[in-house]
Amino acid sequence: MSKLLLIKGKIKKFDKNIEVSGDKSLSIRWVLLASQCIGRSRAHNLLMSEDVLASINAIKKLGIKVKIYKNFCEIFGNGINGFKYKKNIKIDAKNSGTLGRLILGLLIKSPQKIKLIGDKSLSKRDFSRVTLPLERFGTKFYFKKKNKLPFSILGSESTKGIKYFENKGSAQCKSSIMLAAINASGTTSIKAKKSRNHSELLFKYLKIPIKIKKTKKYDFIDIKQPKEIKAFNYQIPGDISSSAFFMVLTTLANNSKLLIKNVNINPSRTGVITILKRMGAKITLKNKKIYRGEKISDILIKSSNSLKAIDCPSKLNSSAIDEFLVIFLVAAKARGISYFKDISELNQKESPRLNWGSKILNMMGVKTELTKNSIKIYGQPNLKITKLITIKEYLKDHRIFMMCTVAALTLGGQWKIHDKDSINTSFPSFLEIIKKINEK
Ligand code: S3P
Repeated sequence: MSKLLLIKGKIKKFDKNIEVSGDKSLSIRWVLLASQCIGRSRAHNLLMSEDVLASINAIKKLGIKVKIYKNFCEIFGNGINGFKYKKNIKIDAKNSGTLGRLILGLLIKSPQKIKLIGDKSLSKRDFSRVTLPLERFGTKFYFKKKNKLPFSILGSESTKGIKYFENKGSAQCKSSIMLAAINASGTTSIKAKKSRNHSELLFKYLKIPIKIKKTKKYDFIDIKQPKEIKAFNYQIPGDISSSAFFMVLTTLANNSKLLIKNVNINPSRTGVITILKRMGAKITLKNKKIYRGEKISDILIKSSNSLKAIDCPSKLNSSAIDEFLVIFLVAAKARGISYFKDISELNQKESPRLNWGSKILNMMGVKTELTKNSIKIYGQPNLKITKLITIKEYLKDHRIFMMCTVAALTLGGQWKIHDKDSINTSFPSFLEIIKKINEK
């Protein structure tokens, strides 16, 4: 199969209903938490992407039994710190920062060294953001290259709760320490800048002793080590980060309409909806419900022919962190100059996304002003691309691939987008859904 996607010509007018696959953050958290439960946990609609499969393989290496059926997945946990494994094992987190960082929290008591490796993209990313706080539980790390994969982790027998200040607004860092807290005696206290709160909601649902005090800027989280965690079943809702590509596809398409069913709209993830609506996108939420503390709804999007620039408030950054690339496309077509600030974290993702986002906009003929921490995008309401654009060597960042596909289908031009298999990281059915939308 060719790994190159060629797109010539825009998507036809459409009016469709779709479902996107299960939420990646919740899928990985379900796998890791189920591994700490006693007995059989079952998940429906678990995202079957490479990041989640890598999570499943990781807990299998650690001695946990997993069964994958057509419609669901079962994990047979051995309880807290119940991993059983051979000497010299290696865990491959592949492309997944979430897996790589979160699993370390579960290994703070590992009696033998475990090596953590990852792909080219993950091996460029910083791990000190989790290894430094985890060291304070008594855990040791053995690096070859400072703060980068591959490295080994060796746990400590006596692990006591710590006090930790998470100041980046990173749910990965917060969740890694939260998982460590399950394995540490006493209380772990976290002061965290706002970020997605799936771990907190799951801890509450699982009756892990957790207390949360919220202020405007920070959450104060206290976790006591639980005695045990009961196995649990979970129905994973659709991923808002995957939905975002279709929100923008529909917003920028001609006279079209799309209903995305059953999407997780946890308020700590809905920055993309807030930002797009402020820019003039027509998005409505329907059939809202609550499932185990998570908000879920259908999302209706209609095309918009009047988009305006945004001066995006930094407080929305963490709730839209994975969606900025595709939001930049709307800014490229909006009236005025959009400004996104305090977003240096974007350069810490699967690829340096702030730099890549700017580079792609420039290739499209859109002017940008880029700093380490911000981008200004000079919108062109009449933007039409007529040239050939080739996208390659972008560290196979799944979201770069999907952003470019949406740009090609809505703004025109001829696009050659390499490494089609990058979508397998988070959204293997992305191109099939595009095909379904484009069918008569
Ligand atoms: C994630 C948190 C975010 C996000 C990533 C998934 C999670 O990373 O970018 O795709 O599931 O906790 P940071 O927490 O590092 O911002």
